[in-house]
Amino acid sequence: MFNTGIEAVDCYAPEKIITNDDLSKTLDTSDEWIFSRTGIKKRHLSTGEDTSQLCTKVAERLLAKSGTDPLEIGLIIVGTITPDYATPSTACLVQGAIGASNAFAFDVSAACSGFVYALSIADKYIKSGGCKKAIVIGAEVLSKIVDWKDRSTCVLFGDGAGGVLLEGVNEGGILAEDIHSKGEDGLKMTGNERKPQNIVYNPEGENNPYLVMDGRAIFNFATRIVPKSINEVLEKSNLKIEDIKYIIPHQANSRIIDVVAKKLNAASEKFYLNISEYANTSAASIPMALGEMDNKGLLEKGDKIIISGFGAGLTWGSMLIEW
Ligand code: UT7
Repeated sequence: MFNTGIEAVDCYAPEKIITNDDLSKTLDTSDEWIFSRTGIKKRHLSTGEDTSQLCTKVAERLLAKSGTDPLEIGLIIVGTITPDYATPSTACLVQGAIGASNAFAFDVSAACSGFVYALSIADKYIKSGGCKKAIVIGAEVLSKIVDWKDRSTCVLFGDGAGGVLLEGVNEGGILAEDIHSKGEDGLKMTGNERKPQNIVYNPEGENNPYLVMDGRAIFNFATRIVPKSINEVLEKSNLKIEDIKYIIPHQANSRIIDVVAKKLNAASEKFYLNISEYANTSAASIPMALGEMDNKGLLEKGDKIIISGFGAGLTWGSMLIEW
């Protein structure tokens, strides 16, 4: 039995940057409000690229970085809530674009936990021998489903993508996971509602295409479950928080991370944050942070890290990985 190792990691964000000051020109908001409540300074927004195009850039970078032929890839999973289409899946579009004709491909919908969920599935395929190499990407063009007139949501989100190329390793790699859903609270955060509408049933104005959330409820949920989930993976792998070099949380709000750090009695320097640059990119935020860390040379072989995602669904999940 071998583990699943991360062979390469990379990320991509659209070039266009919109600052808090830019937003305050058209909305009743300010840099002071946004930064002090969330830690966000700016966000990257798509000027036309769709989710599959962001993913394809990431996949091409992963193949180049690891020197992998696309035909070696057996599986592609994309975690996203902003696919180009309901069908085909974003992952199938990526498969076609990179010429990975030996892969099977599908999307996972788990909002801000989408990357952790997708990585968990790919881990099982690799460990069972179901495929030798897999690409897992978290990607969003959230700007498609954000109401740009609603200051309580639009200032929070951005676009981007990040991903990993996986293969079996004899030691290290993914060591433990903790994954959950709580559908009872699902309507506390919704997006792109699609109720029945046809020739026999056509209610007007029933669908809300935008992201809607009870911010306070999600804040309380996150600060409660993230420390619990991190402790769970530590316990499962017989490690202590001191053994962990970095914790890479979903980048939703720096105040959530402050509370989590306090609850875990962990130094805030252990938490990698890039929310000030990219805002909340949902499924993309963890792999974007990992890609950025790798490109900065922060991740060394043998480092133990924890990733932890949480969000709509409600969903959450953590993984302990030895780099
Ligand atoms: O990705 C996973 C899912 N999402 C999250 O994890 C988000 C979790 N929640 C949060 O991060 C925070 O709850 C928010 C950042 C969304 C909101 O912060 P808050 O401290 O909970 O603010 P609030 O919603 O209670 O709003 C406080 C005030 C309100 O005004 P009143 O009613 O007190 O007069 C809002 O209307 O701030 C107002 N407000 C704004 N003011 C200026 C809301 N948005 C803005 C804004 N600029 N952009």
